[in-house]
Amino acid sequence: MKMRFLGKTGVKVSELCFGTMTFGGRSFFKYVGQLGQKEANTLVDMSLEAGINFFDTADVYSQGLSEEMLGKALGKRRKDIILATKVRGKMGPGPNDVGLSRHHIIEACNASLKRLGTDYIDLYQVHNFDPDTPQEETMRALDDLVRQGKVRYIGCSNYSGWQLMKAMAISDKRGWERFVTLQALYSLLARDLENEMVPLCLDQGMGILVWSPLSGGFLSGKYRRGKPQPKGTRLSGPQPRFLQLDEEKGFDIVEELDKIAKAHNATVAQAALNYLLAKEGVSSVIIGARTPEQLADNLKTTDWEMSAEEVSRLDEMSQPVPVYPYWMQAMPPPE
Ligand SMILES: NC(=O)c1ccc[n+]([C@@H]2O[C@H](COP(=O)([O-])OP(=O)(O)OC[C@H]3O[C@@H](n4cnc5c(N)ncnc54)[C@H](OP(=O)(O)O)[C@@H]3O)[C@@H](O)[C@H]2O)c1
Repeated sequence: MKMRFLGKTGVKVSELCFGTMTFGGRSFFKYVGQLGQKEANTLVDMSLEAGINFFDTADVYSQGLSEEMLGKALGKRRKDIILATKVRGKMGPGPNDVGLSRHHIIEACNASLKRLGTDYIDLYQVHNFDPDTPQEETMRALDDLVRQGKVRYIGCSNYSGWQLMKAMAISDKRGWERFVTLQALYSLLARDLENEMVPLCLDQGMGILVWSPLSGGFLSGKYRRGKPQPKGTRLSGPQPRFLQLDEEKGFDIVEELDKIAKAHNATVAQAALNYLLAKEGVSSVIIGARTPEQLADNLKTTDWEMSAEEVSRLDEMSQPVPVYPYWMQAMPPPE
C-alpha cells in the first residue's frame, strides 16, 4: 500500500483509508450497515494487514457506536494509525448538542476521545458547514483543541468554495490552525468537485479525502442496466437516495469500467476506485465495505494502476454538465 502526504503536512497516510460508516446500525445509519463488534474487528484487521494506516469515522455514525467499535477494534494498535473523526451532527436532544459552536465542539471532542479510547485525534473534521455559528468561533475552538493536544490536525467536510476560503482567511489572519484536508463526495458519478473545490485545494495545499467513491455501491458493478437489483444493499433499501444518482449515465460508466477491469484482470469496483487515485489533489480514497468479501475486493485496488488513456476515456464519458462561470472561464478570450 502506497503512502501519500495528508495535504501539505508531514504526515503520511495510506492511499486507501477505511471508513467505518457501516459499523453499528443505529439511527439513519442502519440503512448503511449494521455490523457488530466481531465483524468490525475482522474488517479492521483486514485493513491493517493490507497496509492501511488511516481510518475515518464520525461521532454521528450510529450515534457514537461506530467510534466506540473502531476504538475497540484497534486496541493497542491505535498508536500506529492516523485516526480521523468528525463533529457537527446532532448528538442529543438539547439545543446545543449539534453544530459548530465552541460549546458543542469542546463537548463533542471530549465525548469522541472517550468513545475512541484515546487521548488524541489525529484529524478532527467539521462534518458540514454551520450557518448559525460565526466561523471565528469555530476556528478558534478548533485551534484551542490543537494547542491542548487533544487534536493534531483539523479538516473540513462538505464546505463550498466561499465557506472554505473564508475559514482559511480567518486562520491566516489570526495565526490559528488551518484546515489541512477537505473530505468530499467525489466519484465517476459526482465530479462537481472539479469545478471549484479541487482547484481550491491545489491552491491552498489541502489534501482531498474522497467519500462515497463507489457512489454508495452503484459503481461496484452489481447494478446493471436491465438486470434485477441485488437485495439487502444500501441502494436497494427503503431510505431515500441522497446521492442523486444519474442511473442511465451510471450504467454506461459501469460498462466502460468493466472493460478496463477485464484488461487488468480486476473488478469494476477496483477500477472505479483506481480512477480516483489518479485524480489530482487526492490524499486518500475512503473505502466503505459491509462484508469482508467487499473489503478484500476493494483492497486489491492498489495492486494495479489505470493507464492515462483509460483515465481520460472515463473522464470524457463522465464529464459533468458545465456550470457558470466555469464554462465561461474555460473559453478562449474574445478577440
Ligand atoms: N463526510 C461525509 O459527509 C461522508 C459521507 C459519506 C461517507 N463518508 C465516509 O466515507 C466512507 C465511505 O463511504 P461509502 O460507504 O458511501 O462509500 P462507497 O464506496 O460509495 O459505498 C460503500 C458501499 O458500497 C457497497 N460496496 C463496497 N464495496 C463493494 C464491492 N467491492 N462490491 C460490491 N459492493 C460494494 C457496500 O454497500 P452495500 O453492500 O449495501 O451495497 C458498501 O457499504 C464512509 O465509511 C465514511 O467514513 C463521509
